[in-house]
Amino acid sequence: TDYPHGFPAGFMWGGASAATQIEGAWNIDGKGLSGAECIVGGGQHNSTHDNVTKAALEKAITDQSTQRYPKRHGNDFYHHYKEDIKLMAEMGFKAYRFSISWSRIFPHGDDPAPNEQGLKFYDRVLAELHHYEIEPVVTLFHYDTPAALTLKYNGWADRRIIRAAKRYTQTVLKRYANQVKYWMTFNEINTGTTGFHATGAIDNDYSPAARLQLRYQALHHQFVAGAIATKQLREINPQSKMGCMIGRDQTYPATSNPTDVVLAQREDQLNLFYPDVQIRGEYPAYMNRYFSDHHIHIQMAAGDQELLKVYHADYLSFSYYTSRVSNSRPLASDKKITVNMARGFNNPYLKGTPWGWLIDPRGLRVTLNEFWDRYRVPLFIVENGLGAVDQLTSTMKVHDDYRIAYLKEHIEQIKEAVSDGVKLIGYLMWSPIDIVSFSTSEMSKRYGLVYVDLDDDGQGTYKRIRKDSFFWYQRVIETNGEKL
Ligand code: BG6
Repeated sequence: TDYPHGFPAGFMWGGASAATQIEGAWNIDGKGLSGAECIVGGGQHNSTHDNVTKAALEKAITDQSTQRYPKRHGNDFYHHYKEDIKLMAEMGFKAYRFSISWSRIFPHGDDPAPNEQGLKFYDRVLAELHHYEIEPVVTLFHYDTPAALTLKYNGWADRRIIRAAKRYTQTVLKRYANQVKYWMTFNEINTGTTGFHATGAIDNDYSPAARLQLRYQALHHQFVAGAIATKQLREINPQSKMGCMIGRDQTYPATSNPTDVVLAQREDQLNLFYPDVQIRGEYPAYMNRYFSDHHIHIQMAAGDQELLKVYHADYLSFSYYTSRVSNSRPLASDKKITVNMARGFNNPYLKGTPWGWLIDPRGLRVTLNEFWDRYRVPLFIVENGLGAVDQLTSTMKVHDDYRIAYLKEHIEQIKEAVSDGVKLIGYLMWSPIDIVSFSTSEMSKRYGLVYVDLDDDGQGTYKRIRKDSFFWYQRVIETNGEKL
C-alpha cells in the first residue's frame, strides 16, 4: 500500500502574528488598553507580565510620562498592513493568522456598543488578504484581555467576564464569519496556569495554592467562553471552523527508568488536558486526581458540561517551539529550565536558541503523530519559529541562515509526519514580519522573514527589509515544500 509523499494540495503555508505584538495605534480610532499594553519593556530573559500588580496596572493606564510600553507600538501594522500583506503575498502565502484586539472593538471590554472604527480596521485587513487570496485565520483571544476588565472583574477569574466575552465574540463573528473560514478561540490556552498574561487576573498576593485554584477556575471560564463562541459560529456560519489552540510541550522522560516515564506521562497530561476538554468535550478523569491532590475545586454552572460536550472544537491548532524533560530524580548537575511555558529539565541531546529555547524538530514529528492518534481531527501548526538577533548589513541585507536552518529542519520533520499519515492542514511560521516578543517585549528577539528597522528603545524608521529567509520561504511555498 502507498502512503503520502510530500505535502497535500491546498496545504496552508503562511505565517502568524498577534494584535498586541504588531498593531500599535494603541490610542487611535477609539481603542482601549489591553493588559499587555500596560507592561513596560522587560529586557532579555525578564518577563514582567505575570508579576504585574494592580497599582502598576492602574498607573500604566493613566501614565502621561515617556515610559515605553512596547506592545502599544508593535511594528505599527495598523499603518503598514497593506505593505506587510503585500510582502506576504510576494512570498506566496496561502494563509495568515492574526488576532482581533478585544479592546479595539470594545475599549473597556463591555461597552454598550462596539467601536465601529475598530471593526473597520479588520474590514480593511480582511479585504487586503482576500485581494491576494490569502486565507485569514483569526484568533479571538491572544493574550490581550482589556485592562478595564482586569480592574472590574480581575479578568477571567470572575465568571461575569463570560458575558462580556460573549458580546465581543458575537460581534466579530457576525461581522466577519462570511469572510473567515478558520477561527480559533484562545491562544495557548494552557499558559493560563502561569498567570496574568493569559488570564488577565492579578494573583501575585495569593498563596501558591489559592493562585492555582484561581487559574484553573479562570481556565474553566475560558473553556465555557470558547464553547459559546463555537455555538455562535455554528449558528452564524456553519461552514466556518472553530479551532482550539495550545502551546505544545512535547514531554520526554529523562531516562528509561519507569519512575521518569510515569512522571513524564503525568506532566504531559497537564498539557493534553486542554485539547482533551476542547476536542473530546469533557474534563478527563486524570484531572480529578490532580485537582484533589492540589485542593482545587472547579465551580461549574448548570449547563457548562453540556456546552463543552456539544460545542467542541473542529480542529486542533498549536504552537511548537521546544520540548521538555521530566526528571524524577534530578542530580545537582541537571539544569532546570523554563522556556516559554515549558518548565522542565535540560535535554543533553538538544541545543538551545540564544534565548535558551531547546531546538527539537523531531519532537514536532512526535507531537503530530500523538495528536493525530489521540484526537483524529485536522491538525494545524499555527506557530513555529526562531527568535534571534539579526544583523543588518551595510547593503541592507540580513543573512539569517540560522533561521532558515531552524525552519527547514522543522518542515522536514513535518513532512515525515505527513508521510506517517498525519492529517495536517497547514503550517504558519512565527512571524512573517519582525514583531515585539511577547515574553520579553523586545524587538531584538526577531522572528521575521522581513526585518523591521526598530530597536528595543523604539528608535527606527519602521522600514521593512526582506531577509534571506524571505526568499527561501518563497521557494518552499512555490514548490509546496519540495525544495527546502
Ligand atoms: C507564543 C505566543 O508563546 O510564542 C506568541 O503565542 C509569542 O505570542 C511566541 O510571541 C514567541 O514567544 P516570544 O516570547 O519569544 O515572543
